[in-house]
Amino acid sequence: MPFLRSRTPFLPWNPTLAGLEFPFHSSAARKGKTMSENTLTIRDNRTGKEYVVPVENDTIKAMDLRKIKVNPEDFGLMTYDPAFLNTASCKSKITFIDGDKGILEYRGYPIEQLAEKSSFLEVAWLLWNGELPTKGELDEFTRHVTHHTYLHENIKKLMEGFRHDAHPMGMLQSTVGALSTFYPSAKQVNDPRQRAHHTIRLIAKMPTIAAFAYRHSIGFPYVYPDNELSYVGNFLSMLRKMSEPKYKVNPVLERALDVLFILHADHEQNCSTNAMRAISSAQTDPYSSLSGAISALYGPLHGGANEAVLTMLREIGTINNVPAFVKEVKEGQGEKKLMGFGHRVYKNYDPRAKVIKGLADQVFEVTGKNPLLTIAVELERIALQDDYFVKRKLYPNVDFYSGLIYEAMGFPPDYFTVLFAIGRTAGWLAQWHEMVNDPDQKIARPRQVFLGPARRDYVPVEKR
Ligand code: COA
Repeated sequence: MPFLRSRTPFLPWNPTLAGLEFPFHSSAARKGKTMSENTLTIRDNRTGKEYVVPVENDTIKAMDLRKIKVNPEDFGLMTYDPAFLNTASCKSKITFIDGDKGILEYRGYPIEQLAEKSSFLEVAWLLWNGELPTKGELDEFTRHVTHHTYLHENIKKLMEGFRHDAHPMGMLQSTVGALSTFYPSAKQVNDPRQRAHHTIRLIAKMPTIAAFAYRHSIGFPYVYPDNELSYVGNFLSMLRKMSEPKYKVNPVLERALDVLFILHADHEQNCSTNAMRAISSAQTDPYSSLSGAISALYGPLHGGANEAVLTMLREIGTINNVPAFVKEVKEGQGEKKLMGFGHRVYKNYDPRAKVIKGLADQVFEVTGKNPLLTIAVELERIALQDDYFVKRKLYPNVDFYSGLIYEAMGFPPDYFTVLFAIGRTAGWLAQWHEMVNDPDQKIARPRQVFLGPARRDYVPVEKR
């Protein structure tokens, strides 16, 4: 069986692409400022001293603040930024988002073009290597991914041990973590050949683990990969195949799922990507790190909103109830939300939502229309002309229509996040490669503002 070979077939990562010079989207660079103008003068009113710190790529280095002290023995100034609302943790060349304009680009390519013309495996390569593959590179990459789809039989046995009603994200997260014990060479994270090898393995095995988790939940036998099918075709076969000798893949659903994987493949420094980078900054192997990223995605604030959209649409029930529902949201002072609307970064229509809306029509032609779609469309129409939503720049996000498609394709709601994870694996791995090759990066270790008690002496229990 070819999947256990330790020989690395090729080395796609081009280390020169990891050089992290001036990003293309720096506004300072566009305005053509000289280096001397790119500084910030800080006056410390506690001491009257002034400090000049360089501004590069519209940022200052947090470490430059450390020299700002009242007394020489002070630690120096820090910034306080819970949830990293205004802290860049890395320089990256992978994904660009302009939330105000509703722009999302992978390596400079607009998401709309990739969704229309590319494939998930091509996008995975692009995110990882920085350039679109040549035909030869793509064929080679596809061949290697296809031949690493099988799981070790003991992994299958491990999955069989889960309870019948185990959440598929819990199964995915722990099984991916367990893979680290099967591939000890993955610990060699400073060896580019090993990194390439395990990147291929992870992209290849995610759909297999995901499909086994699904079959487990419905009590059906696991279906082994069919290497004659495409990446998504094989995934559908592992999900759906019964006694027929070969699963017949519907090309519309195959393409729709491929596009959904593309749309979810990366989204710069979100919660789970930050987890991937933070864990692997300790030189942890990629299976353990990716398992941590999946755990972050598991949380309802990150990967679970599309399920909430379905619940909301069911609660609304018919299009006649839409105006009353919108009124309730507005009068609820933020207590009740329009699920699938609004985004921390996008203050415009989420470009992924536009693509998904178009995709929904194609999927529904095959599966039959999800009756909740009419309510969703009416909800969007009413909300987009309502002052409350317009003023707050609340537009449909990626989750507004994706749940409707997943449901129409027969996926249960608790499986939606698993589908998200398969696509996002490409981004997590690309970000990991970038981090390992970035000379600025070290083990992630934030500071704290300590507000606890001052030093005091221990009191024995009988004297408390
Ligand atoms: N429905 C109604 N009002 C909303 C809203 C929504 N979906 N999202 C935000 N608002 C309102 C807030 O109540 C707030 O109103 P206020 O200024 O009167 O207090 C204002 O818009 C700003 O919202 P805020 O919560 O500060 O935005 P955020 O950037 O912190 O939150 C989300 C972003 C995504 C968490 C938020 O929009 C949300 O909860 N959306 C619904 C869940 C969802 O679809 N999540 C998936 C994201 S991909």
